[in-house]
Amino acid sequence: MGPADLPIVVAITGASGAPYGVRLVEVLLAAGCDIHLTVSPSGQAVFAEEIGRRLDLDRFDPAVLLGRMPPTDGTWTYHHYKDLMAPIASGSFLTRSMVICPCSGSTLAAIAHSMGENLIHRAAEVHLKERRRLVVVPRETPLSLPQLKNMQAIHEAGAVVLPAAPGFYHGATTVADLVDFVVARICDQLGVRHALMRRWGETT
Ligand SMILES: Cc1cc2nc3c(=O)[nH]c(=O)nc-3n(C[C@H](O)[C@H](O)[C@H](O)COP(=O)(O)O)c2cc1C
Repeated sequence: MGPADLPIVVAITGASGAPYGVRLVEVLLAAGCDIHLTVSPSGQAVFAEEIGRRLDLDRFDPAVLLGRMPPTDGTWTYHHYKDLMAPIASGSFLTRSMVICPCSGSTLAAIAHSMGENLIHRAAEVHLKERRRLVVVPRETPLSLPQLKNMQAIHEAGAVVLPAAPGFYHGATTVADLVDFVVARICDQLGVRHALMRRWGETT
């Protein structure tokens, strides 16, 4: 993990789980993180399907993504998924880490096989080659053998595979609690402090 003052790259792709992406961006901004954000067209489509918000990938507005004005504790920079000239396409641009949430099986496969077709794949490749923290949040069930092998491949390459698989042991009673469970575990991996859930062993 890089120094805390460096930006975190956040990519949203076309797996089910738009609420995880929304909450993650909100929590990172509220925690004062500087984020570089990109969204795939399938991420855009699933977003509209699941939470009815129409992201414009050419004229991106974080207020549409969040459903409210973004927290101003942190900063956001948006990059179009096709923009391979963006700073996050180069290892010389220093970052703290990258998270893909949610991560589709297609994006997982592209990373596992170094088949970089867009900025998301390229930025992930950069994080692997630079030995920086890459957290991938797949959502699929059941899993095919190729998907399992792709997860193994990126794990061996240094990525953290963090499935969107919420636990129930923290006293979850709402969907928001389940979303927060996954976002909390992502933040733990990114080294971002949070109070999203009661940790095991904590009494209050
Ligand atoms: C409504 C909807 C839900 C989807 N859910 C998933 C999913 O949960 N997991 C997954 O891996 N792919 C899912 N897909 C398929 C991906 O969106 C598709 O593989 C796409 O090519 C991913 O492209 P991307 O990785 O560039 O975002 C879904 C597609 C749609 C339209």
